[in-house]
Amino acid sequence: MPTQTSSRPAAPQPVPQANGTSHYFDGVDLPALAQRIGTPLHAYSASAIRQRISELQSALAGLDATICFAVKANSNLAILQLMAQASVGADIVSVGELRRALNAGIPAERIVFSGVGKSADEIAGALNVGIMRFNVESLDELHTLQRVAKAQDVTARAAVRINPDVDAQTHAKISTGKSENKFGVSIDEARRWFAERKRLGHVQLDGLHVHIGSQILSLDPFRLALQRVAAFWRELEQAGHPINSIDVGGGLGVCYRAGTDHPVAAADYVNVIRDALADYRGKLLLEPGRYLVAEAGVLLTRVLRVKPGVERTFLVLDAAMNDLQRPSLYDAWHDIVPVADAPRPLVTYDIVGPVCETGDTFARARELPECAAGDLLLIKATGAYGASMASTYNSRPLAAEVLLNQGRYAVVRRRQHFEEMIAGEQPARNWETT
Ligand code: LLP
Repeated sequence: MPTQTSSRPAAPQPVPQANGTSHYFDGVDLPALAQRIGTPLHAYSASAIRQRISELQSALAGLDATICFAVKANSNLAILQLMAQASVGADIVSVGELRRALNAGIPAERIVFSGVGKSADEIAGALNVGIMRFNVESLDELHTLQRVAKAQDVTARAAVRINPDVDAQTHAKISTGKSENKFGVSIDEARRWFAERKRLGHVQLDGLHVHIGSQILSLDPFRLALQRVAAFWRELEQAGHPINSIDVGGGLGVCYRAGTDHPVAAADYVNVIRDALADYRGKLLLEPGRYLVAEAGVLLTRVLRVKPGVERTFLVLDAAMNDLQRPSLYDAWHDIVPVADAPRPLVTYDIVGPVCETGDTFARARELPECAAGDLLLIKATGAYGASMASTYNSRPLAAEVLLNQGRYAVVRRRQHFEEMIAGEQPARNWETT
């Protein structure tokens, strides 16, 4: 099938009102919301998430495909419930994520388990509830799976995660498909696993998995990886090893910087899959995370103060790297816009948080309409890898999270109390010896 270029329909975005007084997102007045809940505050648009899900589901029409949302992107139970309601499954990497997914109503038969460090206990827990399949990343893990499944007297369904040695052309820290990366195994190694497949009495090794990285803005790396996987699949079929599922991973990029980032459309991405696997008749699995939720989220934050320095002017926000790590961890760009009430002159700021590290910087030398203490700002596209990567560093409680839906909102995580933050800690009273 020829690959056509389609443009990506715009998902709901925070919009300025005609009178310039407030910004609405999914029909909710953000300044009023910030007033009521306080800041910093993660807000997610349910409509935007549903739209992304249906975009991808429509692109997959006619294929036997299941979308398994990468829970790590946003593990809030309310977000996982939205996935469950839309028949989306889950890609998990820990028993914690498994429990969240089940708790949100995602059935075990729509859950896949990825990750290089699954412990025997985690494997046992996932086998117990009967998840769809394990994406196995090493020979040692394969043997552990066999051992644990044997002990439970069940058969585990498994796919081998292929490391196709493809450069995803993304940030080094989120690149996973080069042979120097810790993920998956080479095709040579996978070939040996299949040759020995029948000796695995309690593992049904009949799937392939590939995930080459995240925030990928070009189709070429996907195409290359899938071509390699497809060639291997044909070789395996010919050698008498039936492949019942191919999991193509996640990685679809989103727009963090308007005018600069040009993400690929879901339909074009799916066409690459259709092309590479044109004669494949088994089940397809997809594991998108960011694509489904990133642009559906904003981080609402207030300016604490404007601090003129010797070389730069600092805008000190009440949000910090503990609320959104991406800029400090990957030098990631997030568009930042004030919820301003009138046009103001542009000023160049370094936009920083209160945490005591120079790395607690959201943006350097960024032009913004002039700000004053108390102004409300939106840090955009924070719905993926925002709250799910948050910490309480500097003893800052976890921010609140709110789901917006057509003019109404629901608090889906209340702001953490101090007592919750220190729960489990205690003075060293009862000294023991081992
Ligand atoms: N499948 C597997 C096996 C993965 O490891 C990941 C992400 C995904 C799917 C989902 O990838 P996505 O569709 O979201 O690109 N914290 C980083 C991103 C780390 C991604 C880790 N793995 C960031 O904020 O950019």
